[in-house]
Amino acid sequence: MYLLSQNKQDQYLKELFDFLRIPSISADPKYKKSVKEAAKWLANSISLAGCENIKIISTKGHPIVYGEKIINSNLPTILVYGHYDVQPPDPINLWDSNPFNPIIKKTDTHPNGAIFARGSCDDKGQMFMHIKALELMISNNDLPCNVKFIIEGEEEVGSDNLEIFIRENSDHLKANVILISDTGILDNNQPSITTGLRGLSYMEVKITGPNRDLHSGLYGGTVANPINTLCDMISSLKDNKNRVAIPGFYDDVIELTSEERKEMSKVPFSDELFKKSLDINLTSGEIGFSTPERKSIRPTLDVNGIWGGYTGEGAKTVIPSEAYAKISMRLVPNQNWKKISNLFEKHFKKIAPLSVKVEVTTHHGGQAYVTPTENIAYKAAHIAYEKSFGKPPFAVRDGGSIPIVPMFEEVLGCKTILMGFGLDSDAIHSPNEHFGVFNFFKGIETIPHFYNNFVKLYNK
Ligand code: BES
Ligand code: MN
Ligand code: MN
Repeated sequence: MYLLSQNKQDQYLKELFDFLRIPSISADPKYKKSVKEAAKWLANSISLAGCENIKIISTKGHPIVYGEKIINSNLPTILVYGHYDVQPPDPINLWDSNPFNPIIKKTDTHPNGAIFARGSCDDKGQMFMHIKALELMISNNDLPCNVKFIIEGEEEVGSDNLEIFIRENSDHLKANVILISDTGILDNNQPSITTGLRGLSYMEVKITGPNRDLHSGLYGGTVANPINTLCDMISSLKDNKNRVAIPGFYDDVIELTSEERKEMSKVPFSDELFKKSLDINLTSGEIGFSTPERKSIRPTLDVNGIWGGYTGEGAKTVIPSEAYAKISMRLVPNQNWKKISNLFEKHFKKIAPLSVKVEVTTHHGGQAYVTPTENIAYKAAHIAYEKSFGKPPFAVRDGGSIPIVPMFEEVLGCKTILMGFGLDSDAIHSPNEHFGVFNFFKGIETIPHFYNNFVKLYNK
């Protein structure tokens, strides 16, 4: 175990702050230069940590950063993946501080302080823990195995170019396990290991009514209003049990056995605290399932954005010609995201009344993933968390998606261990995203335990 002096801790935070100051927003073309700058910053950082063969690989989109430390070809290899791109900070007026000028503030869940900045938790801060952990192992001369780092700048926009890269370079990326910190733990007193991710299918729809915006007095009541029609169509996508009403949607879903559900219910969770943390009076979701089940083992459908008509100041009496919505579906193992996208498209076109035209487009998507818990990598992670937190971790299936994880398995034949350190309350993708200072250093402490235990179990 490495004891970090106050000086060293301050130094690590200072470096992370420099990294967080670079607005590496992958979705917005205006930030292309900043994304590149973040890639360069990273390449330099992994080089200072002791990585060799460093490459900044340009792609059709944003660059991929690669580095490795191969000490002995007879030893196992850990492939560390992370992403240096971040979500747009919008809505910017809801931030209490500048999203790209990190500051440390205390919160209820982080009494030792948390780093407030876009990307602090997702995923720059969590990825940076791996660089510092590697630096410590190399400089203390006790790196126990080979390491490869692959860090992309397009996770938040679907990882399309990383997929191409790994397909073309699968030989080069060979590893015994993939290690990722881009998820969370239950809370700072109760560690957990993420053993599942949901899949995703992201759609956009456009409804067109009359060929131009109309005076709502002269025409109101005579033509289909595209926004009203879109709302009707969307509300018909869920039935009275809050199940997705697209024919065939559940066909491939693997239902959990009652034993598996019973096991899941042992993980501590308070509906009361959950409601309180979100200022809601009632949770809502598929009938017959608990909140933890609804957000992990069950698929769902949500509108992410909806627009059309007049939304400016004051009132304008108008029937809009067009209405739009972005709709995503979270999927579970064995559902195929491309098949689901097709089912959605077919169904959405079918339920449209003759009074409007419908266009449906598919954005990105990805498959769900489940980590097996019987292999040595999972065992090594379990021991690592138990050592650093003083408590054994629970296995928890998560609701978010990391589409490259199932892709790694398909292309490299390699399993992933999701060793995250964020909290659900860290507001990733939201205003005031933050990452606990405690969590940052706990991560740096836990990662070397994983390396050592993995190599030990591998040699057994
Ligand atoms: N790190 C998240 C995913 C995540 C967070 C999984 C917390 C589990 C717990 C990742 O950066 C992310 O936001 N993924 C996107 C998917 C992507 C295709 C845009 C998501 O889940 O919406
Ligand atoms: Mn992430
Ligand atoms: Mn994210």
